[in-house]
Amino acid sequence: MICLTLMESSIESNLKVLEKNRHLIDMAELRLDMLSDPLIVSPDIIKSVFGLPLIITYRRKIDGGRYEGPEQYRRELLYSFAKTGFDFMDLELDTSFTEIEEAALKGGTKIIRSYHNFEGVPDNLENIIRDLASRPGEIPKAAVYLNSSRDTLKFFKVFKKIRDIKEKIILGMGDFGFASRILYRQLGSMLSFCSVSGNSGAPGHITPEDIITLYRVKEINSNTSVFGIIGNPVMHSRSPLLHNKAYIRADLNAVYLPFPVDDIGSFFDLADILGIKGFSVTVPHKVGVIKYLDEKSPEINKIMSCNTVFRSGILWKGFNTDLEGFLEPLLSRIDSAGLKIGSLRNGAVIGAGGAARAVITALQSVGMYISVFNRSESRGAKLASETGISFFPLSRIDLLSEFDLIVQTTTVGMTPKDNETPVPGYKFRKDQIVYDIIYTPLETRFLKDAKAAGSITIGGMAMLTAQGIKQFEIFTNQQFPLEEQTGNS
Ligand code: ATR
Repeated sequence: MICLTLMESSIESNLKVLEKNRHLIDMAELRLDMLSDPLIVSPDIIKSVFGLPLIITYRRKIDGGRYEGPEQYRRELLYSFAKTGFDFMDLELDTSFTEIEEAALKGGTKIIRSYHNFEGVPDNLENIIRDLASRPGEIPKAAVYLNSSRDTLKFFKVFKKIRDIKEKIILGMGDFGFASRILYRQLGSMLSFCSVSGNSGAPGHITPEDIITLYRVKEINSNTSVFGIIGNPVMHSRSPLLHNKAYIRADLNAVYLPFPVDDIGSFFDLADILGIKGFSVTVPHKVGVIKYLDEKSPEINKIMSCNTVFRSGILWKGFNTDLEGFLEPLLSRIDSAGLKIGSLRNGAVIGAGGAARAVITALQSVGMYISVFNRSESRGAKLASETGISFFPLSRIDLLSEFDLIVQTTTVGMTPKDNETPVPGYKFRKDQIVYDIIYTPLETRFLKDAKAAGSITIGGMAMLTAQGIKQFEIFTNQQFPLEEQTGNS
């Protein structure tokens, strides 16, 4: 079941939020502590106007809510709701009000006995949940904040051990807990919470739209193939959008999640627990992941960077789709301009990090002569000698006009520093092909300057999409379903 947490300050606003999302959700949680005046509307009226199963919650500040007043007042209000009879009432572990519990029992309200921990995963989490579950007639709920990959692993191990507790609500808060909110059914939690954007019910809440239509939580079952992306940070990655939408178009029983990872070893253990079939790898793990692979594709050995990991039987196989992903938009742009890659004499690559190495290798594979331009001489010269090309300091931007192709691989110009360029003052040539691998913003200052000079430009979004399409093919062994083919968006 999907429960929408209602966080508005008035009943009217909560009803508006509810009406917009009613078709997506199964139930709602009314957070009395968020209301500016929880007494203004009677429990009877609330019961009749909401018209779906409700959890009544009056959360104290110490438990992550807003209520800071006297306990007696909270008790009286909860009592009036218990007397009215709602589907559920959330009471914290240390909130034991006999008269409320008796009224709830009489009125058919089921008590959710909740435990919150905003610090991390306690060593005795399993015992805490078992204690909660031993209370007759109550549903145990544990919400703990996950701070790291180790916390995530510890949390999911507990999840596995308490499968015998049939009725329970368990969730990991924060970005590291995202997977627990999507895979809640596989993990045996009765429900998952969501809230509307801009008014999050708890750290890590997802919107009803995303949880239902993008992550398709209601369709996830034990046969669902789980994929994802590891990185840090990773929650704003566009890959979940690309992959999940493709799964929907291809009608695949699969889901793709962002996994924040600060310890790759713990993630591989988690991948075993969750049966993860494959994952994309982004900054800063493209090099670190390599030592965990059982097999490496030839390009990984060449550029020492892996962006795709796939489980094949008991082996983890690594690939790098960045090379093809980089080349494909370039070749198609050259083609649409009526040119041929063979007619380009030489290329300049700006930057000397991991991305530059991949780009240089890709361009060498199509027979181009490359030079690298970099701010720091030591790094630039090292990469140049390792790849057998020439190095120029970035200060020699006057030399850039000698090149048919210029590729920008540094982080300069990335949002929020949209107005920066690594080559201020450089006048692009009209017949130059200019490629920036940055995709936020969609058009960098570097590309804008090139476009203004009439150059042929290519942005990083094209590369991001192309490398993701290759990953989809590795993960699913199917061709990527293009949007036009089915008419879906
Ligand atoms: P990635 O693996 O994504 O390529 P990286 O290894 O951190 O990232 O490399 C970043 C590149 O951006 C480097 O070439 C870096 O230049 P230095 O070697 O001189 O550090 C370049 N870079 C970062 N900030 C820069 C800036 N303000 N001006 C010019 N180059 C910059």
